[in-house]
Amino acid sequence: MKILITAGPTREPIDPVRFLSNRSSGRMGYALAHAFVKQQHQVLLISGPTSLDVPHHVDYLPVESAQDMHDAVAHALPRVDIAIFCAAVADYTPVEVATQKIKKSDEFITITLKKTIDILGSARSVHGFTGYLVGFAAETEDLETNARTKLLAKKCDMIIANDVSQSSIGFDSHENEVLIVEAEENTKLPRDSKEHLAHHLAAIILKRFDRKRGGVS
Ligand code: C5P
Repeated sequence: MKILITAGPTREPIDPVRFLSNRSSGRMGYALAHAFVKQQHQVLLISGPTSLDVPHHVDYLPVESAQDMHDAVAHALPRVDIAIFCAAVADYTPVEVATQKIKKSDEFITITLKKTIDILGSARSVHGFTGYLVGFAAETEDLETNARTKLLAKKCDMIIANDVSQSSIGFDSHENEVLIVEAEENTKLPRDSKEHLAHHLAAIILKRFDRKRGGVS
């Protein structure tokens, strides 16, 4: 199977030396990439900057901004069976990028931001992706309801949701605890290392992909 995974944060440039970003470590996406290659699947990992080693046998495409990530994803989507969007894409990006380093002068400065392109949201509706589509949802409340709304809005087959109000799991931590939300069922995977969870998630995603294709689940 050919699998595309987005991972890590994006960096939205302000000037040649500064950017807006977030605390995503990329660990969940890299662990998933590792889990799939271990089972002999072909993985393309499109990742924002992280400090992680790229798992062996993974095709790796580094990107910086949300726009870069979008363009790389749009190019790869027609060639993959499963697409998993794990990246913590910045929601906003500066309208203008200064060509020179912004000098320290006024007490306050204003940077106007605009919404970034929704990469996952455009996979089906803009790029016509027909494969198995998985999104992530980091929520601080109403986990299931918010994940279900996202499942429908972004036309996903599965949303993997985690509660980021608990600092010991999810963002920038080694462990996670997720609720898998699909059209007709929810599955809770208890707290575990991101590596163990990735193996469970990979097995479930492959099973669901087979079922969608009309195979046996
Ligand atoms: O809407 P929200 O950001 O909560 O959705 C999270 C999901 O959407 C994640 O799978 C994330 O990778 C993806 N996403 C994206 N492009 C964006 C924002 C989120 O692909 N601009």
